Amino acid sequence: MLVHNSKTYMDYLDKLGDISDVYELLLIQYMNEPDELNKMADRLGKPIIAHTTRFSFGTDAPVERNLLDNMNDLIFRCKAKWCGDHLCFTGVPGLGSGGLLPPIMNEESVDVFVRGILEAKKVINTPLLIENVVQYYQVGTMSQAQFLKDVVEKADIGIVLSMENISTSKSFMESDYYEFIDTIPVERIVQIHCTIGNSQEQKEMKSDIFGTIYDKQMMQYEALEYLVKKRGVKPKAFIWELETETDSHPEVEELRQRMEWANSLFFKNKGAGY
Ligand SMILES: [Fe+2]
Repeated sequence: MLVHNSKTYMDYLDKLGDISDVYELLLIQYMNEPDELNKMADRLGKPIIAHTTRFSFGTDAPVERNLLDNMNDLIFRCKAKWCGDHLCFTGVPGLGSGGLLPPIMNEESVDVFVRGILEAKKVINTPLLIENVVQYYQVGTMSQAQFLKDVVEKADIGIVLSMENISTSKSFMESDYYEFIDTIPVERIVQIHCTIGNSQEQKEMKSDIFGTIYDKQMMQYEALEYLVKKRGVKPKAFIWELETETDSHPEVEELRQRMEWANSLFFKNKGAGY
């Protein structure tokens, strides 16, 4: 489960209980208070996965050494098994974009990513993964799935597959789970991100594209079954993201049941992930 550094999350975890086998932490929440990261990792007492938006591998400029050292320190502090970032750029030197922007989807841009990731791999002492992003627009001729395939194969790294980001892309352009899944090298999927919201609220939220937000949620679950049953995907971790379009977190019992469902779907014979 992805855990934010907030009282809301700590209160929710108190209610949920210690049932997650692994937690994901957002490094950006600890950049100014790195000691808090040590404390959070100790408090959670389970293996940690690091997640970040800071590398900006899509920026056509050298990755700053200072940044790499800082990230390495944070990853070390929480003893993360690996660290995920995104198939995006978040600005250019001196100017941040304020969001995760999809890159220009062409060969030259693939090379920019690969160069940056290989530089980072020389310094970062834990494996790096790349996550697909919401595709707000299309610039360039390659699909995101093809672009992701080329980047991870050339840089020789694994994938964080975000189910939510594929479906949210539908709000901006054609986006199909099955086409996406069938294009990427599924054997490189190390981790899956899937959202879960408060289903009562989701059912009341109408959507022109999906019917309701609950319908959008159900589509993710169906695509997960396809991943396992048709493509034989075996991730090392499955992470629930509680940040959805709803105001409230899922009811505790609902999350427990969904965790059980994902556990039997992905980790039947070898213990849980989450
Ligand atoms: Fe992410």
